[in-house]
Amino acid sequence: MKVLVIGGGAREHALCRSLSLDPDVTALHCAPGNAGIAEVARLHPVDAMDGAAVARLATELEARLVVVGPEAPLVAGVADAVRDAGIACFGPSAEAARLEGSKAFAKDVMAAASVPTGRSYVCTTPEEIDKALDAFGAPFVVKDDGLAAGKGVVVTDDIAAAREHALACGRVVIEEFLDGPEVSLFAVTDGETVLPLRPAQDFKRALDGDEGPNTGGMGAYSPLPWADPKLVDEVMETVLQPTVDELRRRGTPFAGLLYAGLAITSRGVRVIEFNARFGDPETQVVLARLRTPLAGVLLAAAEGRLADQPSLVWRDDAAVTVVVASHNYPGTPRTGDPIEGLADVVAQDAPHAYVLHAGTRLADDGSTVLSAGGRVLSVTATGRDLGQARERAYAAVDRIRLDGSQHRTDIARDA
Ligand code: AMP
Ligand code: GLY
Repeated sequence: MKVLVIGGGAREHALCRSLSLDPDVTALHCAPGNAGIAEVARLHPVDAMDGAAVARLATELEARLVVVGPEAPLVAGVADAVRDAGIACFGPSAEAARLEGSKAFAKDVMAAASVPTGRSYVCTTPEEIDKALDAFGAPFVVKDDGLAAGKGVVVTDDIAAAREHALACGRVVIEEFLDGPEVSLFAVTDGETVLPLRPAQDFKRALDGDEGPNTGGMGAYSPLPWADPKLVDEVMETVLQPTVDELRRRGTPFAGLLYAGLAITSRGVRVIEFNARFGDPETQVVLARLRTPLAGVLLAAAEGRLADQPSLVWRDDAAVTVVVASHNYPGTPRTGDPIEGLADVVAQDAPHAYVLHAGTRLADDGSTVLSAGGRVLSVTATGRDLGQARERAYAAVDRIRLDGSQHRTDIARDA
C-alpha cells in the first residue's frame, strides 16, 4: 500500500522508519518531512496545516492511508479533509482532537466518563484564578487551555509566577498537584475497539535530575521495570475504554492514537493529560519494540476494523531514546548549525542505535545536515535490557557533534 505521513519531527521519522520496514508498504511519502525522513520517504513541500492541500496530495499519490502525526493539523481538521476526499486517515477528527486541543474539554469528558484525574477549576477572570490558586495551595499547577507545544503548563511553588502565567493564558485550567512517577500509555483505536501499546516514560524537564524548564520531552525509555504489570489493564479499564466510549456516545468518535499521560499517585492512577497523537519522544522507544508491521494496524484503525486485528507482537528488547537539543532550547533555539557524526552512527552503531531527525534540514549543498529547530534529533537504541540500550544510545550521542547542543545524561538511569 502507498502511505503518506504528515509532519516532520522525530515522531514522524520514527513512524516513517517503522512503515519503511513494513513489507506491505510499497511507497512511502511524507509532507513536509525533514532531512532524516528524506532517507526513507519521498518528501513533498506541502503545508501540514492545509487540509485541502494534504487531501489533494494524497489523491495525487493514490495513497491508501494517510497518517497525520502532529496535534496542530489534527485540531485544525486535516484528518477530516483527507477522509472527506475518500481516503483512509489515521488521526482523529477536529472534534475528537479537542481532547488534546482544550484541557477544559478533556476535563469535561473525563468527568462524564468517571475517568480518574486531578481536581481542577477552569478560570477566565483574575478573581477565579485567585480563588482556585487559594483552594489548592502550593505547588501550583497552571495550564493554558489551548495548544501550547508542550509549554503551556507551569508547575511552581511561587504564587506570583503561577498567577502571572494564569493571567497570560486567557482561559486556564488550575489543577491539584499530582505526585508520583509519570507514565505515557498510547492506544490505537478506531473509535470503539482500543488496542493499548506498551507504556513508556518521558523526561519533560530540560536538565538532569528533572531540573529546569518543561520541554517537549528530552528522552524516553520502555519498558518500565518498576511499574505494576497490571498497569496497562487497569488504565484500559478505567481510562482508555471509558474515554473512547464517551466520545462515541457524544457522536464524535475518536479514531487514531489516544495518548494518556498518567501520574501514578499514592491514591492510584490519575490522568495528567490526553494527547490526540503519538507522543514524542515516547514513540521512538515504543515503535522500536513493536514487531507487528505498523501499516496494517493503522489502516485497520482508520477503517474501523480494529476488532479483527490480531494481538500486537512485541520484542523482548528494551529501548532508550535521548534527545539532542539546540543551544538555548526550550527558549528561542539557535538554528542553522551543521550536525556532524551522523554517518559515524550508521557505521558504528547500527542496527542497535540510530538517529531520528526532528528539527533538521539539508543545506543548499545537498549533503550537510543543519539544525532547524529546538529539538534537533533523538538517538534511539535497543538492547537486551535498559542498561545496554542506554549504553548504546549514549555511545551514539557522543559521536554527534552540534555546536552548543545539549542533552540530558540521566535518561533511564534510575530505572
Ligand atoms: P502536560 O502538558 O499537561 O503534559 O504537562 C506537562 C508536565 O507538567 C507534565 O508532564 C507534568 O510533569 C507536569 N504536570 C502537569 N499536570 C500536573 C499536575 N496536576 N501535577 C503535577 N505535575 C503536573
Ligand atoms: N512527550 C510529550 C508529548 O509528546 O507531548
